[in-house]
Amino acid sequence: MDLVVGATGDLGGLITHRLLERGEPVRVLVRDTSDVSPLKAAGAQLAFGDLKELTSVDAACKGVDRIISTATGASRGGDDSVEAVDRQGHATLLRCAENAGIQRIIYVSANGFETDSPVELARAKASTAEAIRSSGLDYTILQPTLFMESWVAFVVGAQIQVGDTVQVIGDPARRYGFVSMQNVADLALAALDHPDAQRAEIPLSAGSCSYQQIVAWIAKATGRELHVHSLPPSTEIPGFPPILNELWSFAATGGLGPLSTPKVAEKFGFEMIRPRAFIQKMFRSDG
Ligand SMILES: NC(=O)c1ccc[n+]([C@@H]2O[C@H](COP(=O)([O-])OP(=O)(O)OC[C@H]3O[C@@H](n4cnc5c(N)ncnc54)[C@H](OP(=O)(O)O)[C@@H]3O)[C@@H](O)[C@H]2O)c1
Repeated sequence: MDLVVGATGDLGGLITHRLLERGEPVRVLVRDTSDVSPLKAAGAQLAFGDLKELTSVDAACKGVDRIISTATGASRGGDDSVEAVDRQGHATLLRCAENAGIQRIIYVSANGFETDSPVELARAKASTAEAIRSSGLDYTILQPTLFMESWVAFVVGAQIQVGDTVQVIGDPARRYGFVSMQNVADLALAALDHPDAQRAEIPLSAGSCSYQQIVAWIAKATGRELHVHSLPPSTEIPGFPPILNELWSFAATGGLGPLSTPKVAEKFGFEMIRPRAFIQKMFRSDG
């Protein structure tokens, strides 16, 4: 039995549905404040609880062999702070996993996240990765670069719905690594059973490009004339989640850089979705 934590989120949902499609039994740790009907309909076993509540996590871990956690408090707010979810909540999850004799955890961190980062989310995730390494569990820590679903489809897509100018933080020519969430799910699933994924930390990136290139590709795909406007780091783009603005400033000041990991896809047996192909599919004007 696999336990997915974060299954009501974008990546966790994708992973859960794929596991269920493979016919695997899946339990999900979910809050009753989120919409769990798609997970229930797909056949997931619901364990209601919260990473902030030890007894609920303890109960969810009983009878589980492996955990996949994509959970984060970064976009939730309120009591679900980064400290409460990404750091303390995962410490609770690890403690309960060890008590329940769980063998393996797949944890989604991010590339470039270090314990001395200026960004709290990066520090919390890096310290959870440290705790996982020194736990008794076998583990795979995934270190994907920026998700194109968030940093291209949402960041640029939301802006070109209301105008022809795309605001970017920092130098538009600066290149970053990008990856599709689909490929992160591919790697998480492959890592569950792959011998090379044991006690491993795996960076994942489909390729690198700049926002200048991204906007030019989107302009070509949509047949529109689009412009890029650069804002200095530490600026906030109105309407964007605070964590996104914070991470973008971090990235724009050298915190994140270019990366490409073609050998990972080769080794774990999936096809990387390259940034240009993602954009062509997502933005082409015939829908
Ligand atoms: N976006 C990127 O570019 C990027 C890049 C690299 C790595 N990542 C990492 O990828 C992971 C997945 O991202 P995502 O976009 O799928 O995240 P998401 O959609 O924001 O999902 C977050 C999940 O965490 C759950 N959660 C939050 N607080 C919780 C708590 N107290 N107890 C139990 N569950 C809780 C949420 O449940 P509720 O629905 O109940 O709130 C939700 O299922 C994250 O860890 C993120 O840091 C993202």
